Amino acid sequence: MDKFLITGGVKLEGEVRISGAKNAALPLLAAMILADSPITLNNVPNLKDVNTLVKLIAGLGITMDYEGETVKADTSTLSNQFAPYELVKTMRASILVLGPLLARYGNAQVSLPGGCAIGSRPVDQHLKALEALGAHIEVENGYVHATVDGRLKGADITFDMVTVGGTENILMAAVLAEGTTTIRNAAREPEITDLAQMLIEMGAKIEGLDTDTLVVTGVESLHGCEYSVVADRIETGSYLAAAAITGGRVKTTHTDPSLLESVLDKFEEMGAEVTRGEDWIELDMMGKRPKAVSFRTLPHPEFPTDMQAQLMAVNVIGRGFATISETIFENRFMHVPELSRMGANIQVEGNDAIVTGVEKLQAAPVMATDLRASFSLVLAALVAEGDTLIDRIYHIDRGYENIEAKLQSLGAKIKRVS
Ligand code: EPZ
Repeated sequence: MDKFLITGGVKLEGEVRISGAKNAALPLLAAMILADSPITLNNVPNLKDVNTLVKLIAGLGITMDYEGETVKADTSTLSNQFAPYELVKTMRASILVLGPLLARYGNAQVSLPGGCAIGSRPVDQHLKALEALGAHIEVENGYVHATVDGRLKGADITFDMVTVGGTENILMAAVLAEGTTTIRNAAREPEITDLAQMLIEMGAKIEGLDTDTLVVTGVESLHGCEYSVVADRIETGSYLAAAAITGGRVKTTHTDPSLLESVLDKFEEMGAEVTRGEDWIELDMMGKRPKAVSFRTLPHPEFPTDMQAQLMAVNVIGRGFATISETIFENRFMHVPELSRMGANIQVEGNDAIVTGVEKLQAAPVMATDLRASFSLVLAALVAEGDTLIDRIYHIDRGYENIEAKLQSLGAKIKRVS
């Protein structure tokens, strides 16, 4: 099992190119199922999760051609609507093929995704909304069996809580439904807007982008197009956090400051100098120790839960103390015991973590537990005294493309060891 060996103490300096967003690429790949002519997706990040979903879609019989950062799909060869547990269990976002398969082919058998380290992550909202569109849903032996007689029918849907995947699944079903669908309490993450924009390029009629109410007028069919995945705002924030924690200066390129303003505001509150360009962001910590800052994770445009672990790591060596509230997932503090092994001072009380900044961290053998927690351990190792060994880094390969090369290009002493 691969591990990372990281020697701390280097201020990171330099430029890093941001990849396409994992959390946009996954729904965009699922949406390719809706195209009745060949469709091309560019700027696709080369990640384990992406490869898994491409494999799952190919398993439907769809012709998938994946070269470099481009995926081409031809749905004319589709032969089944079955998404097996073996693949879905390794990548929960596979549930996103449910909406498109149901909308276009009238039936789908998709394995229920398991939970994961950060929470139970049910999909009840997805299923309830699809039923509102006229789907007949049965859950048997761990599979969702969805069918509809004829076409789905437009409906007025209100989610009980903001759900990114739920919004995406319903959006991809509603675009081919008969009539109008209104989706209320919709998620407003940039990845939703990216999905809506590609669907519109395919001929869909969607209004209310970037708002919590999407109005979809169903069409008979959708055609192919050529589209490019939006920049990864979480990868951007993660590398800027590497500059903040090491007191360095990092410029992230091929990104977009407007995707993560709430995160940039926090870096500025920490005392960093943040410069914003059209498609780049530079963070200069000027050799200073950051000020610990409090925050609460909330749906976009508030502070993203996917940056919670990374900003906690910066707080760990910050001046003063901070309170972090995780309001989205019920178990997203798995990085706390690992950071504590390195000398962090964190008290967890329910969904709140109180961090008291310390001057120094000590290297220690630690274990990654989930994707974003893994990056927070990398951040801590970059400043810890000595050599830190991080185990189970397969978690990090799911969501960060070429992470060692990108960090090494910024001066980090990191290598992958078996
Ligand atoms: C997406 O997950 C992201 N994954 C997550 O990123 C991200 O943390 C999350 O949105 C929140 O922003 C992808 O986009 C592939 P939700 P998703 O449905 O869609 C509850 C990462 O690190 N809920 O918005 O699964 C759920 O349990 C990953 O890149 C229900 O109760 O998240 C959670 O508490 C981690 N019932 C909350 O809503 C439902 O039917 C938000 O979940 C659906 C969700």
